[in-house]
Amino acid sequence: MRKAILQKFILVLLAALCINSVIFYFASSRIILKNTREDMSYTLRVLDSILDYEGDIPGQMGKLKGFLDSGSSRLTLINENGSVAADSDAEAALLDNHLGRKEVQEALNQGSGYTMRHSETLGKTMLYVACRSGHAPMVLRLAVPYSGMRDFLPMLFPAEAVSFLIAMACSLVVTRRFVSSVTKPLRDISKEMLKVKGDYGELKVERSRYPEIDIIAETTMKMSQNVKEYLNRIEKEKQIRQEFFSNASHELKTPITSIHGYAELLESGMVQDEAMKQDFVKRIKKEAENMTGLINDILMISRLEAKDAEVVLSDVRISVLLEEILDSLKPLAASSQVFVHSDCQPLCIKANLQQMKELLSNLISNAIKYNRPGGQVWINVRETDKAMTIKVKDNGVGIPEDSLEHIFERFYRVDKGRSRKQGGTGLGLSIVKHIVQFYHGSIDVTSELDKGTEFFVKIPIRQ
Ligand SMILES: Nc1ncnc2c1ncn2[C@@H]1O[C@H](COP(=O)(O)OP(=O)(O)O)[C@@H](O)[C@H]1O
Ligand SMILES: [Mg+2]
Repeated sequence: MRKAILQKFILVLLAALCINSVIFYFASSRIILKNTREDMSYTLRVLDSILDYEGDIPGQMGKLKGFLDSGSSRLTLINENGSVAADSDAEAALLDNHLGRKEVQEALNQGSGYTMRHSETLGKTMLYVACRSGHAPMVLRLAVPYSGMRDFLPMLFPAEAVSFLIAMACSLVVTRRFVSSVTKPLRDISKEMLKVKGDYGELKVERSRYPEIDIIAETTMKMSQNVKEYLNRIEKEKQIRQEFFSNASHELKTPITSIHGYAELLESGMVQDEAMKQDFVKRIKKEAENMTGLINDILMISRLEAKDAEVVLSDVRISVLLEEILDSLKPLAASSQVFVHSDCQPLCIKANLQQMKELLSNLISNAIKYNRPGGQVWINVRETDKAMTIKVKDNGVGIPEDSLEHIFERFYRVDKGRSRKQGGTGLGLSIVKHIVQFYHGSIDVTSELDKGTEFFVKIPIRQ
């Protein structure tokens, strides 16, 4: 990184120096040309006032030649018709008409003019400045060899080189400092990350003076926090799954042990009484039914938990479904001597039939099971605020307050013996809660021990 930054720095430096030099060259050239022109115009004006146009002009020109300089400058006097009246370097009569020259034209039209031309005879670039005389109908023209900035270049190159070297040395120092100020926080972040062995929430990175690097630090910290949360969640899910498996196998073991016991008794021939034999067979059947119920509930839970599993939605006529469920629960209600009252609006919602059946039958069967002879169950289903509300109320045994927060947990039962006797698995309400969550609904429960329980479910109706 240091090398790359330094390379870029030097490139930018060189480019800046080049651009700067070019701009300086052109700006200085203009200034030098302007100054030279002004000096020459001034000289011409002085010469114009010195010259005696009535007298011997070629003679005066000879004298002036010495005054002008070492001989590189040339003074020409041109008549208004373009013919040369006198010249400091050549015989006037031999020179051709100067009317077509740009500087002469400008002087005749505007009072003064200039041009720059390469002279073949001298092999030099000449600057010509012309001026209309204030004393005679003539134009005075002065020519000097002109090289502009080129003369100064040998002087400028060393200065450029020195400034480049100084800038390079400064940039080396500055770049080194800058690079280490940028890489240090990054190194710190990686050092901190390496330090983290297990607890990703521990990662703490100090603020640097660059907000861009702080973003990296913050993102890294946020990421490690997310990793921590994710790992925690996985750990929790693992625990829940382990608990579930051990509970499930334990629950399955109980009926199997019973079945095994009864079967062994029957096999041993110890039981002679026919009525007793029949009773054992009945018990075996009951335990097998319990096992089937448990396996069905386990399958239902795992289906609900498989988030990617496809759930087929169709139009479910809730009142018809409720009738069916109540019909199937009639024997249970009769044997428990519980009266069921239902009040259902003719609702039709988009849902999964099996899930709706599970939800209603679990709540209603609980209300019947955890009740007393002569007890009652009230069911109320209606549509309010684009949601289906289900109320299942009973005046049964109720739920102790400290159990209320646990009843939706898997395998939780207030009275294990009673639940088992009724064929309960402890998974019913957990299934109900899963289903309610699937539809983004809510479930609430209020209960008073020995007085009764009320479950209230709200499920938004999909259009
Ligand atoms: N209406 C109710 N009245 C009293 N207790 C209830 C009622 N509904 C549920 N419970 C209690 O909550 C426990 C969990 O219910 P659930 O998950 O359906 O399991 P179970 O298979 O035992 O019915 C039950 O064992 C019972 O103790
Ligand atoms: Mg139940």
